[in-house]
Amino acid sequence: MLVRLLYASRARQPLAPAAIDDILATSVEYNPRHGITGVLCHGNGVFLQALEGDREEVNALYQAISRDARHHELVLLQFEEIVQRDFPGWSMVRVNAAKVNPATMLKYSTHGELDPYRTSGAASLALLKELIAGASLVARNPERGRS
Ligand SMILES: Cc1cc2nc3c(=O)[nH]c(=O)nc-3n(C[C@H](O)[C@H](O)[C@H](O)COP(=O)(O)O)c2cc1C
Repeated sequence: MLVRLLYASRARQPLAPAAIDDILATSVEYNPRHGITGVLCHGNGVFLQALEGDREEVNALYQAISRDARHHELVLLQFEEIVQRDFPGWSMVRVNAAKVNPATMLKYSTHGELDPYRTSGAASLALLKELIAGASLVARNPERGRS
């Protein structure tokens, strides 16, 4: 049974590119083997991640992620059964919010910043879907972790 989980968290350290690379490397190794797909958006010292896949697999991964000392203040934004995946092509794709068209950030937020703590889960999910649709990514070659 497919579910999607959406959460927000705060990085403990300023987000060094190498730290994100490390998380992505773990994800692209682990997620395909466990049928997990999703998106990791980061910016402003905040993470917004969607995980989708089998219910038990998503639960297990979220529990592992929640124990990770690299971030804290995890807030579960959404957890729902889904008929189909929104991000089927991505074992985990990362999006740097700083590279996103400011108008796209403003479309889904009050201040044009990545701030899932003050944004509804529905709006955060809509943002992730639009980012992955690709039209709003400023960089021609966004940072990808295709499965
Ligand atoms: C924001 C964030 C997102 C993460 N996303 C994933 C992910 O999608 N898949 C994954 O395998 N690990 C992810 N990790 C890494 C896990 O937290 C953890 O390092 C990994 O599951 C290994 O756990 P272990 O050392 O307990 O075996 C993420 C970590 C952070 C901080």
